[in-house]
Amino acid sequence: MENHIHPIFDRLLTRQDREQRLQQNSKVLWLTGLSGSGKSTIAEALERKLHNSGYFAQVLDGDNIRSGINSNLGFSLEDRQENIRRIAEIGKLYLNSGIITINSFISPTVEIRNFAKETIGAENFIEIYINAPIEVCEQRDVKGLYQKARKGIIKGFTGIDSPYEPPINPAIEIRTDQLSLEESVEQIFNYINPILKYNK
Ligand code: ADX
Repeated sequence: MENHIHPIFDRLLTRQDREQRLQQNSKVLWLTGLSGSGKSTIAEALERKLHNSGYFAQVLDGDNIRSGINSNLGFSLEDRQENIRRIAEIGKLYLNSGIITINSFISPTVEIRNFAKETIGAENFIEIYINAPIEVCEQRDVKGLYQKARKGIIKGFTGIDSPYEPPINPAIEIRTDQLSLEESVEQIFNYINPILKYNK
């Protein structure tokens, strides 16, 4: 007769088991920078490059986070903090699934990014500063938001009337006003490839 007791034959699966299955070391790649600095473009191209190189990677950005799980959040500093707190928790879940995430968020303050780093674990967190001078971002104005911010239609816009604090000691800094997209992705890839390569 069945007794509904199911013995555990083995220990629970670990991050290491999953990394072995995926043949990669999982990490959280954290892209920070102003709106219009090129984070999303680089994140998407990097995701493709990692995929084509045999890695299992996932971009987390405004499209899949702010439109979904974080759709109740705005752009006050408190909401940005909560935005990043949840993203860091999501990044941690992916990390333990063995998956590499490319997190593409302004994440404007040192404090916010430190919080994310602590949540994720410093050894798992690779900070990448996507840097273009604000004048360049404003001139690009891909989404027309700088113009709206200047006119006061949007209040609390990062770099205009809300702070952006550059990273103090990022693992990588990419000057998108000086490098092409291909060069930017190449630089990041060359840095992270040895770290992501499965070697256990
Ligand atoms: S963060 O500060 O909380 O990290 P996040 O990266 O999620 O920001 O969202 C930034 C994007 O939201 C910008 O690229 C822009 O398209 C849009 N946005 C809307 N309002 C603002 C604002 N006040 N400041 C900055 N970005 C804004």
